[in-house]
Amino acid sequence: MPDIFDIYRDEFRARVLGGRPRAILEVGSGDGAFLKTVQGEAGRLCGLDPSADSVARLKGDGFEAVQGSAETLPFQDGEFDVVVFSFTPHHIADWTAALGEAMRVSRNGVEIMDVWYDDTVADQRTAHDFDRWLKTIDRRTGMVHLDTLSPAELIAPMIARRDVTYDYVCRRIAAPQSIDETMRLGAEYLAKAGEDAELKRAFDDIVARAHRDGMTDEGCIQMTIEKRR
Ligand SMILES: C[S@@+](CC[C@H](N)C(=O)[O-])C[C@H]1O[C@@H](n2cnc3c(N)ncnc32)[C@H](O)[C@@H]1O
Repeated sequence: MPDIFDIYRDEFRARVLGGRPRAILEVGSGDGAFLKTVQGEAGRLCGLDPSADSVARLKGDGFEAVQGSAETLPFQDGEFDVVVFSFTPHHIADWTAALGEAMRVSRNGVEIMDVWYDDTVADQRTAHDFDRWLKTIDRRTGMVHLDTLSPAELIAPMIARRDVTYDYVCRRIAAPQSIDETMRLGAEYLAKAGEDAELKRAFDDIVARAHRDGMTDEGCIQMTIEKRR
């Protein structure tokens, strides 16, 4: 059985390659999990990431890679056919600046994939609250780790522009999330947070709801933002 993220990545790959791009930039490329899915499919593939280690590893794997930040891209206007964000928007402090820059350096537009929860379903609300709980602790270490962006929040910086269209799908494979794994990760994060009583109470509530309502893996949103010609 493939990992759910492999399935989401396969779907996203098809979405990105649909317009037959010749030059693709991925912003927040990490160790290249997305770029490797499109290797050999475009004349130019470039990754950008703030992490020097990730950039070095990508270069070692034969990719063009640049160290930098989404909010100020070191590229010319329209230098790429498409700019991709794969599981990165919730790591970016200034999404408005990042999307503006991505639109500037892309000729056709931007493709986004990120985590999404279906908050209409009890088992997803529990999973979403656990995700928020983990991120609260990550942020105490100085990491930018934000709540997942809703479709409205993702498109908000472009909403006043008449030269832009967008569409999106929210996809979810309804797989149960292991309560044992939740307990293990929760204990690890509580130790990291120094056994904070308020966080412990919030975690106990999440575990109680997981037993009562179940808890399921995250889904993903895939959004295309296109420049109208
Ligand atoms: C969850 S990883 C995703 C990696 C890869 N895109 C993937 O699909 O697996 C998020 C990445 O965003 C990068 N990142 C964090 N802040 C960023 C910023 N301001 N601009 C660009 N990338 C950023 C991190 O270094 C990390 O590599």
